[in-house]
This record gives sequence, C-alpha cells and structure tokens, in this order.
Amino acid sequence: MLHHFFTTPVLRRPAQLSPSQLGEIADYILSLRAETPGESRSNRGGWHSAGNLFDSPHRIFPAMNEAVTKALFSYIADAFGYSGEIQIALTGWSIVNGPGDYNVIHNHAANLLSGALYISVPPDMEGGAIHFHDPRLNLNAHETEAMRKLGLRPPWSASSVSIQPVAGEILVFPSWLNHWVEPFHSASADSLRIVVSFNASVV
Ligand SMILES: [Fe+2]
Repeated sequence: MLHHFFTTPVLRRPAQLSPSQLGEIADYILSLRAETPGESRSNRGGWHSAGNLFDSPHRIFPAMNEAVTKALFSYIADAFGYSGEIQIALTGWSIVNGPGDYNVIHNHAANLLSGALYISVPPDMEGGAIHFHDPRLNLNAHETEAMRKLGLRPPWSASSVSIQPVAGEILVFPSWLNHWVEPFHSASADSLRIVVSFNASVV
C-alpha cells in the first residue's frame, strides 16, 4: 500500500451558492467598502473589511455560513477522518482587490483551518491566483538528477501550487499553510476580485 506521508490536504469545491446569493453578498461587501476605511493586513492595496463578517453588527447571510460550515465539515471528515460532534468558531473577513492589488505571504496559524470563498472574479482576470507554499522548506528531494533525467515532476514535488479563483468556489486548507495572492490585470480599471476569507477554530 502506498502512503503519502507529510501531505497537505487542500479542499476545493463549489460552494453551492446561486449567482443571486453571490450577488447579494458582493453588494453587501461593496456597501461596507464604500462606508468604512477597512484595515491593512496582508493586503497591499485593495480593501480589507473590519470585524467578524460572520457575526453582528455585520449582516448575516445564512447560505454563506452554511456553505462555509459544510466545506469545513467535509474537510474534517475527509482529511482528519473525524465525523463526531464538533463546535466550530468561525471568523471571517472580506478582501476586495482591484488590478495591481495583492496579498503578501502569510498564514493564519493560530487556528485549525482557514479558507477562501470566492464571491466575484473579473471575467477577463489575468493573474490573481492564490499560491500555496510547500511547508517542508524545500527539504523534499525534488529536482534530483535521476528525476531530471527521467523528466519526472510528480505533483508532490512542486515547491508551490497555485489555484486560479473561480467565483462560487471555496477552498479549505490548514491554517499554518503559507499563501499569498498575486496581482491581476484586467481591461477595466474598475474590475474587482472579491473574496471572503475565514478561520475556523474548535470551541
Ligand atoms: Fe490568508
């Protein structure tokens, strides 16, 4: 039997939110952006919401809460093999990036799981991917002479993996996993990449 030791499970799946539900969430986030200066965190440029997007005084979107919770439980079942009772505390925020805005490398290590729910992505977006970095500090034996000769580059040998965001998709990953978001280009200077990011910890 083949074992994958030291793997890093990342879940990617549709959030099962309708275009109108995504539109309502986008409208709310953009209204917040118009009313509040936001915070400066990993974002360089763009706008980062303040407070917990999953709690008052923010408007609650039950369908969004459910989509995030379902994805987290799916991850916990598949990656941890756990399907018992578990109480999760969720904190969330939104990041709205325009062309040229990006997020520097960071992680959310004080939590159990983190993730991103893509609310809106410019249709002509070039770039804008999220990049995950191999946590093994490049000590894995990729790029050996033998593998070069054979032309082999299996997926587990990459030192980083990028995922191109798709509106309506959700990612869940371990909170300690380093990641960053590259800038994007679009024909329109008004194009926006809107994401709801979240942390989950166990109560
Ligand atoms: Fe992040």
